[in-house]
Amino acid sequence: MLRLGVNMKILVTGGAGFIGSNFIRLILKKYSEYKIVNLDKLTYAGNLDNLRDIEKNTNYTFVKGDICDKSLIEKLMKGIDIVVHFAAETHVDRSIKESGIFIDTDIKGTYILLQAAKKNNVKKFIHISTDEVYGEIYKGSFKETDSLNPRNPYSAAKAGADRLAYSFFCTYNFPVIITRSSNNFGPFQHPEKVIPLFVTNLLDGKKVPLYGNGLNVRDWIYVIDNCEAIDFLINNGKIGEVYNIGGGSEISNIDLTKLILNFFKKDESFIEYVKDRLGHDRRYSLDCDKIKVLGWKPRFSFDEAMKSTMVWYKNNEWWWRKIKSGEFRKYYQEHYKKHME
Ligand code: NAD
Ligand code: DAU
Repeated sequence: MLRLGVNMKILVTGGAGFIGSNFIRLILKKYSEYKIVNLDKLTYAGNLDNLRDIEKNTNYTFVKGDICDKSLIEKLMKGIDIVVHFAAETHVDRSIKESGIFIDTDIKGTYILLQAAKKNNVKKFIHISTDEVYGEIYKGSFKETDSLNPRNPYSAAKAGADRLAYSFFCTYNFPVIITRSSNNFGPFQHPEKVIPLFVTNLLDGKKVPLYGNGLNVRDWIYVIDNCEAIDFLINNGKIGEVYNIGGGSEISNIDLTKLILNFFKKDESFIEYVKDRLGHDRRYSLDCDKIKVLGWKPRFSFDEAMKSTMVWYKNNEWWWRKIKSGEFRKYYQEHYKKHME
């Protein structure tokens, strides 16, 4: 296994998003010698408010730019030891409406990063994939060796990127590690995603739009657990391998909704059952033995992490109010109008 030195320089892509910003905070706190360059295009999902507390840290540099910009990427890659590649278009509903940008960013952007990283002899390339690449599963859990069966444009683009990263290992022996995590939740998640959407709607006294019958199941992981697992794999993961990272907390959307309603002391009249998502994956489930055998397991319980997440949104209206009253307002109105027709 390649041992890492103390003066690592890490290029994080998509670090102004939800998981990337939590990851940068964790790394800067844990490794006082590491330098981080955060490259982010600042799409609707990128938000420098996520990093306000660390923007003056001398080990941290922000670069506004696109992972599809080949000449910028080649310049930035010089002297980089590790790439942690989060940048992507990430919202399934948006991919159903318009998938072109998902192909550009998630596949082509990954290709441009891989090429430049290989050319510059980067020591490790951590590709952040997703459990959605396996598709849905009714019973049992997916292992890393199971075949991929993505069922929406977002997950299909992510599956393409995932296998492209793997091909760089098989073909060129380029040091890639791939993570496939389950649904993350926690602070700084864009309110287009179900937990922050439902929490902030209730804080505003509004109903929550639940797709279909609410019986779809997701496995939730606290974002800090996922970030710690990524750090663990940078240090302990085997090159060329894929690792599932799950929270082991499966819950149906209806039960998740009731948990949130209870916390805010609202009754079920606050649920608005709306038209289902097209091709809605029924259940995701991961077998995480491979990373557990290496020595990682989630630290946080689902109930405690959910409580602290809901409290975080309650106490940080400054963060989500701007988003909900900006571009997102129009998206929300148009998107949910269609679901109510
Ligand atoms: P996010 O949507 O919150 O953030 C994505 C970030 O990428 C944003 O800051 C955005 O500005 C940036 N970005 C988008 N296009 C870019 C481009 N062309 N160039 C540079 N930056 C660009 O996403 P997230 O939830 O933090 O997810 C991060 C990664 O983790 C993604 O690759 C996603 O597929 C994967 N993932 C997410 C989850 C989850 O539950 N959120 C679960 C498994 C895997
Ligand atoms: O599983 C990992 C994936 O999790 C990541 O790869 C994606 O980037 C991330 O967005 C997430 O995808 P999901 O589609 O599972 O997350 P979302 O929050 O959009 O939806 C979670 C569940 O809640 C899903 O079954 C759909 C449902 N839902 C969602 C929204 C936005 C609703 O019922 N109503 C809603 O308004």
